[in-house]
Amino acid sequence: MTTILKLGGSVITEKDRPETLDGPALDRAADAVAGRSDLVVVHGGGSFGHHHAAEHGVSTTEGSTDPDAVIAIHGAMATLNRFVVSRLRDRDVPAVPVHPLSAADRDGSGALTLPSGAPERLLGEGYVPVLHGDVVAHGGEGVTVLSGDEIVVELAAALEADRVGLCSAVPGVLDDDGEVIEEIREFEAVADALGASDATDVSGGMAGKVQSLLSMETPASIFDLDGLAAFLDGERVGTTVHGGT
Ligand code: IPE
Repeated sequence: MTTILKLGGSVITEKDRPETLDGPALDRAADAVAGRSDLVVVHGGGSFGHHHAAEHGVSTTEGSTDPDAVIAIHGAMATLNRFVVSRLRDRDVPAVPVHPLSAADRDGSGALTLPSGAPERLLGEGYVPVLHGDVVAHGGEGVTVLSGDEIVVELAAALEADRVGLCSAVPGVLDDDGEVIEEIREFEAVADALGASDATDVSGGMAGKVQSLLSMETPASIFDLDGLAAFLDGERVGTTVHGGT
């Protein structure tokens, strides 16, 4: 029963201070993961990746050909990855780092290729691969950002994951009254609550997240740190997005 867990950058870092870990939050996440197996962890950038990406004008679509941009953004993400892996290792989780820059790319149309051989084989050998948002080679653009959410969507399909969880800063997708929406089966039903005018709005944020999760066969849950242990125990927490329909 393979699970893919994304730890949002805003959960494990202090968003407003460049390259600042939220140590207590990462400890809580690592405590919840301790003792689990058949798990792939993906983490976002938070104040590590996004700070440097903004400084160099790099996004998922806007690239840079400056090698220093690659080194700064990837370097910050590798630093955060070391923190995540080491806090997991402190709890005897068989965590090992996997860096997308070395394997993934986008072609000139932006289509992503993320080889899954290494994470799949590592998983099969009993490790917990820990991937991260990164920069990747992009045809005609230099490099662009690869988000953790994109990694989750690719790996869920490639590994035929049974469960996907996104641990975020909010307890789920919230309706207009601020209540967690328990289930989402189609974008139109929640477009208003997400502040998106139509289904083609992929401006990012929660609307973009929900749209990409709806494209997956595997159901995905969005929850916060309070729900993480329960999610990993197999319980239904936060918002569950059912795609593949
Ligand atoms: C961003 O990954 C990675 C970089 C900026 C290099 P995400 O977009 O998944 O990060 P969070 O979870 O939103 O912080």
